[in-house]
Amino acid sequence: MSGDTNTAKKDGLRVLFPTLIYEAWYPEFAEQEQKLVAYVEQMREQDEEGRRISDKQYPSGYTSYFTRSTLFNEAELSAPVKFFHRCAENFARDHHWDTTNFQPVINALFANINPKHSFHPEHLHPYSHISGVFYIKCDADSPAIGFKDPRMARWMMPPAADGTRPENSFHAKLAPEAGKLFLFPSWLEHGVAQNQSDRERISMSFNFEMRQKQKS
Ligand SMILES: [Fe+2]
Repeated sequence: MSGDTNTAKKDGLRVLFPTLIYEAWYPEFAEQEQKLVAYVEQMREQDEEGRRISDKQYPSGYTSYFTRSTLFNEAELSAPVKFFHRCAENFARDHHWDTTNFQPVINALFANINPKHSFHPEHLHPYSHISGVFYIKCDADSPAIGFKDPRMARWMMPPAADGTRPENSFHAKLAPEAGKLFLFPSWLEHGVAQNQSDRERISMSFNFEMRQKQKS
């Protein structure tokens, strides 16, 4: 008697070389929201050098990237940083990376404020494996983060798509939401369009590298 081969073989698509984005919501956000917003706003007030460099390198906006990029050492941010680590561990594990011998370690964390008219041109994050963004203030009119399709060869002759899958576009946009985080491969180009809203958009950006675990 022959077995049912229909369950063993199934016609369909197989996924190769996907670009995976992880999304998660910070469970303690509601109780920390005001504190986090105040923390970043106060930092902008105090960071004179950062404001000066931002004027040249980040027009209309403020970023602590040039002056305070190791915010993961700050005691006030230890709870969200722990959350970022948890998410990065999930990202690495779900990609089936070697999490027996390596672990994600944060190596940069900085804050960004985008008032009206500021924008962030496309870029990527060198010297890291996992990059991410965490939104602490935004609204329905805040601009989305846009990811550029990294498969350059696809630009040769793309077939018409039915419009239901953002990954079929060359620039996939994901809307920000306060308390939400996105993780993505550090090599993936991304940027943020000009903020047209009167409300400031505040985010924190960070990088993780997969570092060899210490042998005990
Ligand atoms: Fe970025």
